[in-house]
Amino acid sequence: MASFGQNQCILALMPFLSAFISLVMCRELQETSLSNKHEQWMAKYGKVYKDASEKEKRFQIFKNNVALIESFNAAGNKPYKLAINQFADQTNDEFKASRNGYFRELRTTTETSFKYENETAVPATIDWRKKEAVTPIKDQGQCGSCWAFSTIDATEGCMGGLMEDGFQFIIKNGGITTEANYPYKAADGTSKIKGYEKVPANSEAALLKAVANQPISVSIDASGSAFQFYSSGVFTGECGTQLDHGVTAVGYGTADDGTKYWLVKKSWGTEWGEQGYIRMQRGIDAKEGLCGIAMDASYPTA
Ligand SMILES: *[C@@H]1O[C@H](CO)[C@@H](O)[C@H](O)[C@H]1NC(C)=O
Repeated sequence: MASFGQNQCILALMPFLSAFISLVMCRELQETSLSNKHEQWMAKYGKVYKDASEKEKRFQIFKNNVALIESFNAAGNKPYKLAINQFADQTNDEFKASRNGYFRELRTTTETSFKYENETAVPATIDWRKKEAVTPIKDQGQCGSCWAFSTIDATEGCMGGLMEDGFQFIIKNGGITTEANYPYKAADGTSKIKGYEKVPANSEAALLKAVANQPISVSIDASGSAFQFYSSGVFTGECGTQLDHGVTAVGYGTADDGTKYWLVKKSWGTEWGEQGYIRMQRGIDAKEGLCGIAMDASYPTA
């Protein structure tokens, strides 16, 4: 009798059971396709994990990042897109720790003069890439030498530090070998910089005058997951102003939808962003600029 009751019960539950089973199967299918996706991603970026448990851990992170990227893009409420890139198996904390070697040290030194302060010739658009004043995008790898890549692709230097320290390092050492097209290149392929000047802090207007004249080293807060997976469009945040990364502002302009942007060169390889570049919103209300871009800008003086 009891078994008859049980069968009836199972019959009654059949529709629910089959729905449940297809749900489970669907999840398994998704899991399989994500696992394939992870394998393809590993092949593309030449990733090898030390053992199965590491691979499983990385797969879980990869899965979470894919979900984050897909839901961000599906929401479609920002003028920029995210994409799976070389950082897809890293948590945001790991990303921050491994990519950023920038230790900010607040400086109270009195400013030298800002030679562009009276600049009036400020074109609507500048792109120093077209003027060959910008070195090719390099991947800084796992070391925090972002300052060195900011304006000079130094061959030395797995050392974190202020970009200005980078400049001072070069000054002290009487030069450093640079990429062929660096504007401060001397005849022997060595760059000699006599000093650096700071752009007055917290003024996008001052930064504009400077970038109108040359690529400018800037510092930004590049720690967020939106930054980690930025792919294209004008980046509008979220980001803070905890400066942790040295980059170069190599131009500016206005996007088709009217959003003004800074054209910023990063050192995360051409796979990241718009062939290694990010357009960051310009002219925001906060005086620090988006991600603190106007807080700590400087340039070497030849
Ligand atoms: C900018 O103009 C002011 C007023 O004429 C002048 O005192 C200052 O020296 C100029 N700055 C530069 C960098 O030429």
